[in-house]
Amino acid sequence: MKTDLLQMTDSAGCSSKIPPKLLDEVLKHLPRPSDPDILVGIDTHDDAGVYRVNSDLALVLTTDFFPPVCSDPYEFGQIAAANSISDVYAMGGTPVVALNIMMFPAAKLPPEAYEEILKGGAVMAAQAGVSIIGGHTIDDSTPKYGLAVVGYIHPGKIITNKGAVPGDLLILTKPVGTGVIIAGQKLGIASGTDIGRAVETMKTLNRTGSEVMKRYNVKGATDITGFGLAGHALKMAKAGSVSITLNMRQVPLIGETFMLVEEGCIPGAAFGNLEFVEGDTCFGDSLEYNLKMIAMDAQTSGGLLMSVREEIAGEVIAGLQETGLIRAAVVGSVTEKREKYLYLES
Ligand code: CO
Ligand code: CO
Ligand code: CO
Repeated sequence: MKTDLLQMTDSAGCSSKIPPKLLDEVLKHLPRPSDPDILVGIDTHDDAGVYRVNSDLALVLTTDFFPPVCSDPYEFGQIAAANSISDVYAMGGTPVVALNIMMFPAAKLPPEAYEEILKGGAVMAAQAGVSIIGGHTIDDSTPKYGLAVVGYIHPGKIITNKGAVPGDLLILTKPVGTGVIIAGQKLGIASGTDIGRAVETMKTLNRTGSEVMKRYNVKGATDITGFGLAGHALKMAKAGSVSITLNMRQVPLIGETFMLVEEGCIPGAAFGNLEFVEGDTCFGDSLEYNLKMIAMDAQTSGGLLMSVREEIAGEVIAGLQETGLIRAAVVGSVTEKREKYLYLES
């Protein structure tokens, strides 16, 4: 029988993050390192840490790993690797080397599945120009896989989540809905076409999106993963002391995401994200419940959310679409800090 990884996990991919409120609570009590060469630490909840080596070189460090988001081991490996590397791209860095992080139920799955996951990861890493130079494995009941990634960046050219400036428009490079569709797949109500689209989206590296950001000197960005579009936009607003308005009607969706939510297919992680954002968010009167929950949907290997000057937004979108990111769209805007950090409209 063919291995179906998705049946081995309750919460898939970035949906299995610790609820953001709990994470915040725990991180608050940790000691803060004071090394002056830490250029980006944990304070602003940015995508990766950045450490200065000298005046021309800093390292971007990040790790992500999670349980399966799809049935096929090879594709799971590809997606997990693309997702892990994404945090380096979100900051404008160039990923160079990585370590495998792997949990695998040796008694429950054939060794071929193990090998396929690692192969998928290695192939995706190679596509990103990343060499995998080691790793660590633990026998565990649910498989989990990801990478710890190291990238290079110039200390003066770091793109952070605090770089959004009032007047900017927000561009999202990939459609949203992976959490909903994976949940729909587990329930047997997502179509094969949509599952295929979600997998393709998750396997797409944020490499070209990052290249376009660098070409246009974008200063503020993040990638959309477990905290959903709303959660990551809120982190961006807080880090930059600005307010962000998301127009949920402009957000590109994968296939029948809206219909699946209509049918009640809303993964638990979305409610955790709602709890995290609601105190800082104003929900527009005309915002439909379905769009509100789509904003909360935990994404796996989601797109980049970049803050760009209004004058160049059209050019940036054209540049992104030229590289194949055909669903890239303006989804919101940045203003001076208003009463709330985040405004969800439709
Ligand atoms: Co990230
Ligand atoms: Co991450
Ligand atoms: Co070890």
